[in-house]
Amino acid sequence: MSADMQPIELIVSHRGVQHRLSLLPNDTIALLQARLEELTSVPPYLQKLLFKGKKANIQETDTLSLAGFKNGTKVQMLGSTTEELGRTLSADTEHQRKERILRERALKAPVKVRSTSSPSTSSQYTFNRIEPLAHLPEPASARALLTRLANDPAIRHVMQRHHLAVDLLTELAPHEQPHLLGLNVNAGQAIKLRLRTDRYDGFRLYSEVRKVLCHELTHNVWQDHDNNFKEMNSQLNREVAEFERAATEGTHHLVGSGDAYQPSSELEAEAQTYILGGTPILPGDESREERRRRLLEATMKRLQKEEEELEERCGTTAS
Ligand code: NI
Repeated sequence: MSADMQPIELIVSHRGVQHRLSLLPNDTIALLQARLEELTSVPPYLQKLLFKGKKANIQETDTLSLAGFKNGTKVQMLGSTTEELGRTLSADTEHQRKERILRERALKAPVKVRSTSSPSTSSQYTFNRIEPLAHLPEPASARALLTRLANDPAIRHVMQRHHLAVDLLTELAPHEQPHLLGLNVNAGQAIKLRLRTDRYDGFRLYSEVRKVLCHELTHNVWQDHDNNFKEMNSQLNREVAEFERAATEGTHHLVGSGDAYQPSSELEAEAQTYILGGTPILPGDESREERRRRLLEATMKRLQKEEEELEERCGTTAS
C-alpha cells in the first residue's frame, strides 16, 4: 500500500465538540468541508479551519496533504451556520428584531414539551405518502431518506405553521431528469426530489436536499419564482434554522438569552485566529462591525447564487 492510500485521521473541534474523520491524503479540501457540513451544519464557505502546519492560500480543489494535513492533525474549526447569519441579517431593523424575539419565544415553547403529545398540531399539514422509485438501486435507503425529511422536526414545524399539505413525497431519477433537483406537481399533489448523485453511487447531502424541499414547499403557495415566492422561501429557510437553533439551545440548557449565547470555546477559538493565523487580522485593523458586514454581504451573495441555481433546476414552473 503506498503512502497515498493510508487513511489519515483528523480531530476537528467545533464549539467544544470533537469530531473524528478518516480521509485519504489525496482527498480534496472540498470533500473534507462537505463531511464537516454534515457534522456541524456549517456550510463550507463559512468554515474556518485552524491547525499547525497549515499552508497559505488553500483552494478547495487542493488535496489534504498539500494543505498540510497529517495523520492525527488537530483542527480547530470556526464558523456559524448560514441560518445563524441569516438571523443576524434579519435583525436589521428594530421592528424585525422584535418580531424575531417573539418568534423565538414561540419556537422555544413547543420544543420544551416535545416529549409529551401535542394535540394542537394538525395531522393534515404533512406528507400523506412516501414512495421511493422502485426501479432505482437501494430503494430502502431512499425511503429512509424521504422519511427522515418528512419527519424532520423543523420541516414539520414550518408545514404546520404555513398550513402546507403534500400528498406524495417521492424522488426524481437523475438519468431521467438530469437537469432537475426538485419539482412540485399541482401545488402539493406531489413533491419530487433528486436524492441521488448523478452516477448513482450514493445520496446527495441531507442539508442540500432539505433546502430543495423548502423551495418546493414554497411552490405549494406560489407558482412562479417571483418576489412573493422569494420572500416566503427565505422565510421558510429562516424558520427551519431558527427552530433548530432553539431546539439545540433547549437540549444544552444554556443560561442567558439567545443573543448572549457565545460559548467560551468559541471565544478561545477566535483568539486563536490571532495567534495561529498566517496573516492575522489584528483587532485594530478593521472594526468588528465592518468585518461582520463584509461577511454578511459575501454570505448573501452566496445564498442568492445558490437560490438562482435552485430556481434554474426546479421543474415546477416548466411543467
Ligand atoms: Ni421552483
